[in-house]
Amino acid sequence: MTKSEIIEQYDKYVIPNYVRNPIVFVKADGVHVWDENNRRYLDLFSGWAVSSLGHCNPRVTKAIQEQAATLVHMPNIYYTKPQGQLAKYISENSFQGQCFFCNSGAEANESAIKLARLHYSHKGKYKIITMDDSFHGRTLATITATGQPKYHRGFAPLLEGFSYVPFNSIGGVEKAIDDKTCAIMLEPIQGEGGINVADYDFMTQLRKLCDERDILLIFDEVQCGMGRTGKFFAYQHYGIHPDIMTLAKSLGNGTAIGAMEATPEVAKSLAPGTHASTFGGNPLACAAAVSVFETIQSENLLNNAVEMGRYATDRLSRFAREISCIADVRGLGLMIGIELKIPASDVVKKCMEAGLLLNCTHETVIRFMPPLNVQKVHIDEGLDILESVLKA
Ligand SMILES: Cc1ncc(COP(=O)(O)O)c(C=O)c1O
Repeated sequence: MTKSEIIEQYDKYVIPNYVRNPIVFVKADGVHVWDENNRRYLDLFSGWAVSSLGHCNPRVTKAIQEQAATLVHMPNIYYTKPQGQLAKYISENSFQGQCFFCNSGAEANESAIKLARLHYSHKGKYKIITMDDSFHGRTLATITATGQPKYHRGFAPLLEGFSYVPFNSIGGVEKAIDDKTCAIMLEPIQGEGGINVADYDFMTQLRKLCDERDILLIFDEVQCGMGRTGKFFAYQHYGIHPDIMTLAKSLGNGTAIGAMEATPEVAKSLAPGTHASTFGGNPLACAAAVSVFETIQSENLLNNAVEMGRYATDRLSRFAREISCIADVRGLGLMIGIELKIPASDVVKKCMEAGLLLNCTHETVIRFMPPLNVQKVHIDEGLDILESVLKA
């Protein structure tokens, strides 16, 4: 099929709810992807931080191939080996909780919202406080949780019981709490919101407040989790832990999987019949995610994320001092935002034309989220392109 035939097929049969660039990608390997003309692109965005071990990572591919030839799906009324193994990896590397598996970030957050309400239903507590500029997904409950009015437009009435406070404002949270509040939900580093890092004091005070007021603390680590910030989970930079955490995106390095982990005490509320997912925790996705954990550990990728994050941030900060259109460079590990004083979408488009894939969020912020196993040579190649586009 030609490129125009492929695009025509989309035009006729696929709902146009995405703005697509006119490129047809056909294959990928590590930090590179190729279009149908065999043109190579450097991918330093990792498809919304999904392909965190690089595209078609050999260990993950092998795990998928072996599992696909062994057992792909069994309903959750039986046991399979990969689901338990994956839950153990998540639990042992975080806060010793228990997991529920689903297929996406929105579903993981939907589960967290349901669990928080269920856990406190006997006390009549149902309200959830989230942050301005947050992003939690596209289901009705998760757009309601998302503190950005643009995602609410056209979907009224939204779910009852949500309120939004400024990110990093403990005073704002205190004011919003009442005796019906069951949870506070936030991303330790906001992704879609423009790579905003939670303050240390804010996070520690939130934990204290939740303990004092009998409120659950939910961390959405769908984007910032799984090693992206140089620790397995971003909350581990703060010396506290949540009651519930959600994961997706890079958990399966491209296979569709989401997870919600809760402390055993809270997890008990998700009794049989309260929640479920047909595909959740299927052996194929779980085997891929198990190999993601094993690869991060055996290849020491948390350290690489710290080192490469520092390398990229140092170079970007030096460049920011030379060029007036960069307002800020911020982030943690390999979750880096470059805030411009000009619209970032044009810059991202020009980078793409030059063979570099990045992303623009919040109008003016370039998201730089290369795979955790990225090397200096790729960072230099990518930043050479970005810098020449910004200079031009
Ligand atoms: C922090 C966060 N939570 C939830 C989601 C929703 O994930 P999904 O698109 O897999 O439903 C996203 C997606 O960008 C996200 O960044």
